[in-house]
Amino acid sequence: VTFTVEDHDGNRQTIEAPDDMGLSLMEVLKASEYPVLATCGGMALCATCHVEVLEGKNGLGEASDVELDQLEALPEYYPTSRLACQIRISGELEGAVIKLRGEDN
Ligand code: FES
Repeated sequence: VTFTVEDHDGNRQTIEAPDDMGLSLMEVLKASEYPVLATCGGMALCATCHVEVLEGKNGLGEASDVELDQLEALPEYYPTSRLACQIRISGELEGAVIKLRGEDN
């Protein structure tokens, strides 16, 4: 699957990731050398993997209550904010545009 990542400087890069390995978006961002801390290891506890889905939100499913609690505790979040560790890489991500929003990214 192919999607676009925008970093904090506004630079966009197209990423290709396998959609049949059960990877999370957080894992793929880290593997692509984006500076996502992911302190909690993908447990929806640290919110350092915060991203804003600029395009393609519909295919990604709803955030869980645990995820929403984390997002709402952030000083700043957006209507399409998600935790990248809670997004499973699937074909639904095709064409999406993801902006890094984690504080320490
Ligand atoms: Fe910690 Fe996603 S990696 S909340």
